[in-house]
Amino acid sequence: MNMAMSADGKVSTYRRETFSLGTREDRYLMDVIRSKVDAVVVGSRTLQLDGWAMRIRYPELRRKRAQRGLNPHPLNVVLSTNLNLKTGKEFFTFPDTEKLIITTRSAPHFRIRKFQKLADVVVLKRARIRPGDVLDILWQRGIKRVLIEGGGTLNFSFFEADLVDEVYVTITPRILGGGMSPTIADGKGFLRKSHPRLELVSSRRRGNEVFLKYRVIKR
Ligand SMILES: NC(=O)c1ccc[n+]([C@@H]2O[C@H](COP(=O)([O-])OP(=O)(O)OC[C@H]3O[C@@H](n4cnc5c(N)ncnc54)[C@H](OP(=O)(O)O)[C@@H]3O)[C@@H](O)[C@H]2O)c1
Repeated sequence: MNMAMSADGKVSTYRRETFSLGTREDRYLMDVIRSKVDAVVVGSRTLQLDGWAMRIRYPELRRKRAQRGLNPHPLNVVLSTNLNLKTGKEFFTFPDTEKLIITTRSAPHFRIRKFQKLADVVVLKRARIRPGDVLDILWQRGIKRVLIEGGGTLNFSFFEADLVDEVYVTITPRILGGGMSPTIADGKGFLRKSHPRLELVSSRRRGNEVFLKYRVIKR
């Protein structure tokens, strides 16, 4: 998982405005992390609000992937229960990424047909998308390294399912405040006895930003 947050732990404002919290250094790190994975997964609301293609901007990183026999960009994956998504976002319009939408039987057929023109669509028989199903689907496609890029609702579900191995966090020098502003892990929340614990693997300061890497201690 990789996320950028303000010094007070928020990943966006209370209006969930679209803007980059980090500097170019953070953007480069994001690309380095993307360059090491086979797929990047986001939740439907991050796609609706931000809608960026999860691509690798730096040509040298794309070249390194090509040398390893990989596609220039990782597979772009979005989870959406009912496919109530906008098609005009860069996620869909950027031509060079392969796209996969995982949805459920709740999605109407007309939307499934519409999105099949833009992406590969997997329709689960159940009403909810479980994080384990997502990894199974990706595994069946030969995908072994998966990056979760938010938002907090999606992240929480992967933590809850104990399916996160590493967490990269960039602390950016801002205070965003707001009791309802999103954080790295939202959802229902954890309790004292059952929350994920982390081991700090590395920390690095560059200017006013701090880059942290944690390993999740398996429960
Ligand atoms: N700073 C950062 O690094 C960063 C990174 C990413 C996002 N963000 C911010 O995070 C905010 C969006 O986060 P969010 O928490 O509101 O939404 P989110 O996590 O992006 O999307 C959540 C939605 O995804 C769908 N979903 C499908 N399967 C799911 C599953 N297994 N677990 C969880 N969700 C599932 C659900 O909607 P359906 O009913 O449609 O299926 C759910 O409501 C935005 O403001 C965005 O800018 C910040």
